[in-house]
Amino acid sequence: KILNSQNYFFLTALAPMVRVGTLPMRLLALDYGADIVYCEVRMDIYTHTYVLETVDFVAPDERVMFRTCSKEKGRVVFQMGTADPERALVVAKLVENDVAAVDVNMGCPKEYSTKGGMGSALLSDPEKIEAILSTLVNGISKPVTCKIRILPTLEDTVNLVKRIEKTGVAAIAVHGRMKEERPRHPVHCDYIQAVAESVSIPVIANGGSSDIVKTFEDIEKFRAAAGASSVMLARAAMWNPSIFRQQGALSVDEVMEDYIRYAVRYDNNPFNTKYCLCQMLRDRVESPFGKRLHAAQTNEEICEVFGMTDFYNKTKAELEARKAALQTNGDQ
Ligand code: FNR
Repeated sequence: KILNSQNYFFLTALAPMVRVGTLPMRLLALDYGADIVYCEVRMDIYTHTYVLETVDFVAPDERVMFRTCSKEKGRVVFQMGTADPERALVVAKLVENDVAAVDVNMGCPKEYSTKGGMGSALLSDPEKIEAILSTLVNGISKPVTCKIRILPTLEDTVNLVKRIEKTGVAAIAVHGRMKEERPRHPVHCDYIQAVAESVSIPVIANGGSSDIVKTFEDIEKFRAAAGASSVMLARAAMWNPSIFRQQGALSVDEVMEDYIRYAVRYDNNPFNTKYCLCQMLRDRVESPFGKRLHAAQTNEEICEVFGMTDFYNKTKAELEARKAALQTNGDQ
């Protein structure tokens, strides 16, 4: 379980997930035992500011695109969506001091990615892939990785990853589905295995949630079936991030409370907090409890729904006091 610029290796990872992979979920996954956590794919980071204990990377319109803190230092991977080597380098340089590695998304099949030549559109443009990855590898001091989907044939997939390996990336995550395939399609462990056999860098298997990985023990089963060195989980962790716990998963109700503690402490956007809690509630979203959660508009109201008002007030008071102390120090 080590990670540095020479040697990139780990066992379990929280996969990059839009809206799900924000700071509270990443910290929770790390607490439960994930070795490394990816942020949601980000495109338009512009600058950064320090806010209390966090570093916020913001978009030109001031929206917080990526918030990190010292608790995840050395273990958070920044994933970018890009189709432009020079622009990718600007963003990577902006974040490199605050992240463990920079990853390039080459698997997103959504139109908002592919229409700009990003995500899975890159899979049919190996020259562009090489240009982006080599520019990053040569331009930053942190490890560079990428996450791909598999191509329609084993041979094409293996050829592509061999080209990718030559760029100097430290590891490659393989989602064992083709870009046309949906989550309900079975994951192709044989493709991931062929990739793992054909390169010497670590291969991170992905795509096993629901088919294969339902418990902590299944993570190792998936790793072995795919012949990979590591496993990256998306949906299984979204439904219950305590899947990373070696001692067994906790109840979702307990996990949601742990989630809320981080959401309040790190001032998470309430709509994002609600979204992540709804993913954990799953079919309980339609229950009276789910409806009360849905009606909440602020983190304070979310805490009320969970009977955590005392926690909210105490944490807010602590944060205000720290802010005031910082201001006083700054004024002197
Ligand atoms: C994703 N996925 C994804 N992949 C990626 O590279 N960057 C991203 O930002 C996202 N966003 C995202 C959001 C949500 C809600 C889901 C469910 C998935 C894909 C994800 O990382 C993974 O490749 C697939 O979900 C397959 O892995 P699992 O779910 O079988 O573990």
